Amino acid sequence: MFFSLLTLLPTLLLAAPAVRAQVGAYGQCAGYEYFGETNCVSGYYCSYESDYFSQCVPGTAPPVYSGPVNYWFPFGDSYTTTSFNTTYLLPTIHNPIGNPPFPGYTGGGGENYVGYLTEVDNTSVTFAYNYAYGGATINASLVAPYLPTVLSLIDQVNEFLGPVEDGGYASKPASTPWTSENALFSVWIGINDLAGSYYESGNRSAFAEVLLGEYFSLMQELIAAEGPAAQQALQVVLGDFNSRLATHVASFKAANSGVKTWIWDAYTVFTNILADPTAYGFVDATSYGNTGDFWAYVDFSSIVWALQADVVWCYIATISIQAVCGTTFLRFDVELIVLQAAAHAIFAKDIATLMAGSLWF
Ligand SMILES: *[C@@H]1O[C@H](CO)[C@@H](O)[C@H](O)[C@H]1NC(C)=O
Ligand SMILES: *[C@@H]1O[C@H](CO)[C@@H](O)[C@H](O)[C@H]1NC(C)=O
Ligand SMILES: *[C@@H]1O[C@H](CO)[C@@H](O)[C@H](O)[C@H]1NC(C)=O
Ligand SMILES: *[C@@H]1O[C@H](CO)[C@@H](O)[C@H](O)[C@H]1NC(C)=O
Repeated sequence: MFFSLLTLLPTLLLAAPAVRAQVGAYGQCAGYEYFGETNCVSGYYCSYESDYFSQCVPGTAPPVYSGPVNYWFPFGDSYTTTSFNTTYLLPTIHNPIGNPPFPGYTGGGGENYVGYLTEVDNTSVTFAYNYAYGGATINASLVAPYLPTVLSLIDQVNEFLGPVEDGGYASKPASTPWTSENALFSVWIGINDLAGSYYESGNRSAFAEVLLGEYFSLMQELIAAEGPAAQQALQVVLGDFNSRLATHVASFKAANSGVKTWIWDAYTVFTNILADPTAYGFVDATSYGNTGDFWAYVDFSSIVWALQADVVWCYIATISIQAVCGTTFLRFDVELIVLQAAAHAIFAKDIATLMAGSLWF
């Protein structure tokens, strides 16, 4: 049959040999940024060796993991991004953050809390579809990010709600069969919004209300996807933002029955670590970039900062789940301030403790 096809359609054969090619013994058949043939010759199967390399080996493929999977959809800025490309390799048991291979490309250059919570501190198989983007603000029209190409929280949520081929998994496609019961949504954002606006004149409380109003309408869209200055001045702005955040979390919870919320206060964690870095295994609070440092990078020369802030870290989901709104915020007068993996390891454990007994961690 194959030969008669050849005979009848010689030009098609010329055009399509690659489609019919199969990978020979021990040839590569999968891997990060491998776009070649994936079918092995008869008698061989594609065996996972690493996130970068799978090869054709003799025998029959072992059964793939078919146990329960939980889904996590993180949104946010550089503290959260692992540079997940939503249209490329999706999470698997081997690489629960999908792509790039664990720990991904993070703000600090190493593992971050998303990686730790999916691959190291996880107490369940949890696949993370990480929409976070470095530098993100809530709404780029309200607070411009450092580059116009940065995907704001609005952009990230729209990507999630959009078509599958553009990286939107809200429709629960076959590839990503999440449900109200097993999906967790999280947002860690705020640093870029406050960093880029706290010094503006006008009624700061009113602006905090605008930002939080937008933030929670985005949370409402995610729920809907399920179906049914001077340091002192800065502290005032941040304290006000945080207390309004708590109020919004409470009304968000009240308006969505069955939603559970957790508030993780990263400010306390940062403060405790920075007050006594060596107790947490760090060298000190001022050096950066080297092994043992808390900070991966920070431009201290231009810092007029206050450790008084709160960033939002919000989890939502539905029915029995979620809405974690944590807060944290660190405010610095520099655009770039990122943490070493060791700091994220502490956050991850802290969050896992907070959410102990939940499905995910
Ligand atoms: C994401 O992956 C797709 C291939 O699936 C590729 O075409 C696209 O360029 C990637 N996007 C980025 C931003 O790397
Ligand atoms: C944690 O995640 C990894 C990677 O998906 C998985 O192999 C492992 O079984 C998970 N741990 C638990 C306790 O479920
Ligand atoms: C973002 O902010 C701009 C300026 O206030 C506003 O016009 C726009 O509606 C906001 N976008 C969303 C999706 O809320
Ligand atoms: C500033 O905004 C807050 C929150 O909207 C409002 O309660 C307060 O009255 C405003 N203050 C002034 C002076 O307009």
